[in-house]
Amino acid sequence: MNYDIKDIRLADKGLLRIEWAQAGMPVLGLVKKRFKKERPLKGIRVSACLHVTTETANLMDALKTGGADAVLCASNPLSTQDDVAAALVEHFKIPVFAIKGEDSDTYYRHIRSALAHRPMITMDDGADLVSTVHSSAKELIKEIIGGTEETTTGVIRLRSMARQGVLKFPIISVNDANTKHFFDNRYGTGQSTLDGILRATNRLIAGTVFVIVGYGWCGRGVAMRAKGMGADVVITEVDPLKALEAVMDGYRVMPMSEAARIGDFFVTVTGNINAIRREHFEVMKDGAVVANSGHFNVEIDIPSLKKISKKERQIREFVYEYTLTNSRRINLLGEGRLINLAAAEGHPPSVMDMSFCNQALSAEYLAKSARKLERKVYPVPAAIDQEIARLKLSAMGIEIDKLTQEQKKYMASWEMGT
Ligand SMILES: NC(=O)c1ccc[n+]([C@@H]2O[C@H](COP(=O)([O-])OP(=O)(O)OC[C@H]3O[C@@H](n4cnc5c(N)ncnc54)[C@H](O)[C@@H]3O)[C@@H](O)[C@H]2O)c1
Repeated sequence: MNYDIKDIRLADKGLLRIEWAQAGMPVLGLVKKRFKKERPLKGIRVSACLHVTTETANLMDALKTGGADAVLCASNPLSTQDDVAAALVEHFKIPVFAIKGEDSDTYYRHIRSALAHRPMITMDDGADLVSTVHSSAKELIKEIIGGTEETTTGVIRLRSMARQGVLKFPIISVNDANTKHFFDNRYGTGQSTLDGILRATNRLIAGTVFVIVGYGWCGRGVAMRAKGMGADVVITEVDPLKALEAVMDGYRVMPMSEAARIGDFFVTVTGNINAIRREHFEVMKDGAVVANSGHFNVEIDIPSLKKISKKERQIREFVYEYTLTNSRRINLLGEGRLINLAAAEGHPPSVMDMSFCNQALSAEYLAKSARKLERKVYPVPAAIDQEIARLKLSAMGIEIDKLTQEQKKYMASWEMGT
């Protein structure tokens, strides 16, 4: 078996951690049980480009159990858990191409290795597989029936390809499922971003000014958790509706030029480029901590930070201290890459349970129905979304009410008034 990982001897440690995650993923467990019986992915080659974590390992196991011939590479150079990569190779016989801390050349070499599998389905988190196929591996397109996309930034890239008419196969946008972004982006990113910052810095959050750049799904989650830990939360936004929502949720809202002067912590979650840049660094307080939890490491303008610094040193694992020419120090976490995966372990299993059920069921949907789809970005079918929410509630032991016949009729009618 062809693979490229850090150290196969880490496999037993990884296996224990994968089992720990499995216990928090009951819904994916149910899907896997059905997959074992029905084998809906039999003979389907899948190339996945996802964060190589314990939760992803459980997804890969479910896909293989469903009959898929699957391989995995990393969707970020810093997010790989090397013990998980080893366990997937050793104990699940799934080829993995990922090493934590790999340089950019190795990262793209690993993407090409995953594509050498000649996928029929691509599974992306950030659209790197799809964009590589479309730019430098076009010969693979004829065998690809479709792909899935996990995150907001990937969906934005793919929609742009579809708009320009260059997308060559259908994509299911897993991110747009309600059972994905309501929970993964909000509660997952909320908790794990704080987890990453705490592990990297061991600082107290209470009593600090905590600036969150972007009040979308991820920003709401990070804000909620930072507030819960006693921070004075400040939001910066470019969208008036989101800014208004942040005000109504009880946060201070101001432009970045003002927030930069008062923040102790900064977290970018915009999916946009250079949300924190030179003019902001120049007015930050001595010791400010700056992190990103958006998909790519472009949200913080690191080249400018380097340019205005006279000294740079790694002061702790995952913390680079930049001393500016004005002598103030700025601490950049995790090289500006998603801090929840760089310094912590990403989202907890119970939230990935839903995200990855969407992935598994979307792959099944593609295997059955891709031929009916056009070269567009499609939402996850509503029936799948509803079913995952139903299964999750049932796994949590929570029952809900059902509409009565009278209520169904009332909701479908217009005649009845006061
Ligand atoms: N860390 C993780 O594990 C994780 C999980 C899910 C998504 N993501 C990534 O996080 C990013 C955000 O995702 P989301 O689902 O919250 O997206 P979203 O579209 O819901 O929110 C982004 C928000 O940022 C705002 N914004 C854009 N440019 C800005 C700027 N210059 N200044 C201030 N605000 C700005 C937008 O108006 C929007 O409200 C994406 O890159 C996504 O891929 C990361």
